[in-house]
Amino acid sequence: MLPEGAAIDHAVVLLQAGELVAFPTETVYGLGADAANPAAVRRIFAAKGRPADHPLIVHLPADGYLDNWASDIPRQAWELTEAFWPGPLTLILKRARGVPSVVTGGQETIGLRVPAHPLALALLRAFAEAGGGLGGLCGIAAPSANRFGRISPTEAAHVRAELGDSARLVLDGGRCGIGIESTILDLSRGSGAAPRLLRPGAITPERIASVLGRLPEVAGQPPAASAAALPRVPGALAAHYAPLTPLRLLPATEIARVAEGATVGWRCALLCHSPTLATPAAALLVRRLPADPSRYARELYAALRELDEAGADQILVEEVPSNAAWAAIADRLRRAACGAGGQEST
Ligand code: TXA
Ligand code: MG
Repeated sequence: MLPEGAAIDHAVVLLQAGELVAFPTETVYGLGADAANPAAVRRIFAAKGRPADHPLIVHLPADGYLDNWASDIPRQAWELTEAFWPGPLTLILKRARGVPSVVTGGQETIGLRVPAHPLALALLRAFAEAGGGLGGLCGIAAPSANRFGRISPTEAAHVRAELGDSARLVLDGGRCGIGIESTILDLSRGSGAAPRLLRPGAITPERIASVLGRLPEVAGQPPAASAAALPRVPGALAAHYAPLTPLRLLPATEIARVAEGATVGWRCALLCHSPTLATPAAALLVRRLPADPSRYARELYAALRELDEAGADQILVEEVPSNAAWAAIADRLRRAACGAGGQEST
């Protein structure tokens, strides 16, 4: 492995040449490209197998670069960047002129964030110092570094397992500290409209309200008539963040019953957090995560990968508490349960 400074210099050279570089953020690993270079951004879509109409998040070195990418930035956006950047909050804003439409999936809005991981920030700053890519816009487009619809990587080895050699370089920052993707907040409807939560994450609605003085609306099931006008958010598809093994969410009290009632030869892999939950005889593998939501989130995706590789017929997951501190985790588990077993159409 190269020393960190040399690895960053190499990463910058690759980004300037339109190549892909994976890097750690505090949430999950991202698959990065010069966001102003349409050919480079198209490589991201190809490497992930992601449909071209699904927009990417552009990562910036600091909020001072927002004007390069967004226009009509509302006051609320500056209040939130002041409070939470660098950090796990993505803002959806109106896109600036000159932003290539391939990054935004053809939409008039753009997702932007300044990540808090020191390696991500060092990369973004070095990229800016080296000229900031095409047009000097200094943005690195980076979706989570996984195949479309699969579990996001929280370790460098997961990126290689997902994407092979399509990332020319993977910067290794160890295990990501937060472990699930950033909160996404839509502010593109202007300062008069309520901010809208598109994806829950570590920055909770309550923390957003502590800055803005109002809770965001939660993007729910759209009424049929307005569905076409809503932004397309692949993270909001029901089937997402999914292992290949079918996954079922169950209350702790149901797990033994389901495991014991299964047919002979059936094997499960179990993900739980209750210290007292008994291991069913049919369990090939048990991963017991901490009962604290931050520590649970940090270990969740690595645990799901292990359970997925156990060769079980089903992954059983103990339901998590239904309160605000667990909301983002519950969201990811629900989507994993929907998408598991390769039932996705995309
Ligand atoms: O934590 C994260 O956000 C990670 C790290 C690498 O920063 N990135 C990430 O990117 O999760 P991705 O592409 O896997 O998920 C980004 C989500 C997608 O659901 C995408 O649709 C949404 O952000 N998004 C991006 N631009 C958008 C826009 N203009 N309008 C609505 N949603 C947008
Ligand atoms: Mg993703």
